Amino acid sequence: MILSSATRKLTIGLLIFGLSMIACDQKKVQKDVLSEGEKRHRDYIRKIPGKDEHVPEEVVAKGEVLIAYAGCYDCHRIDKKSKGPAFIDIAKRYPIQPAYRDLLARKIISGGYGSWGNPVMVPHPHISMENAQTMAYFILSLEQED
Ligand code: HEC
Repeated sequence: MILSSATRKLTIGLLIFGLSMIACDQKKVQKDVLSEGEKRHRDYIRKIPGKDEHVPEEVVAKGEVLIAYAGCYDCHRIDKKSKGPAFIDIAKRYPIQPAYRDLLARKIISGGYGSWGNPVMVPHPHISMENAQTMAYFILSLEQED
């Protein structure tokens, strides 16, 4: 009698142990799937390490207006991939620094392809370097922290 109750306890114990192992395994699988998606997003963003500089409020506001009037939203959205990459994803890749502002400003003016695995970005030769820099600052400022 004593033995069988001990056996029963052991069986139940093993059962619970087994079930929790299965539960753990499933959690692990879910985590792996999630990190797979995160990994893909990370590979897409290809974040360049570097310190963010502060962009003055009025520059950001001006850039936002310039972009609204330049037809950029035909191909871009702030937070969703469209024909072109989401502006927020561009902000995540590049640190806010004059060198990256100029890189993006040149790309806005000259167009290009290949940075985001997307089709071609049309050139905007009528946009001045100064306005393109302001637009670039607006885009970069979408992710000021980290
Ligand atoms: C005809 C569609 C189209 C229009 C209009 C357009 N873009 Fe783009 N843009 C793209 C595509 C496509 C890419 C990705 C190009 C690549 O993969 O290199 C892109 C990329 C970018 C990038 C990232 C460049 C890089 O090298 O990381 C910036 C910044 C940008 N666009 C800003 C703008 C601004 C500002 C305007 C408005 C003046 C604009 N775009 C208008 C399609 C467009």
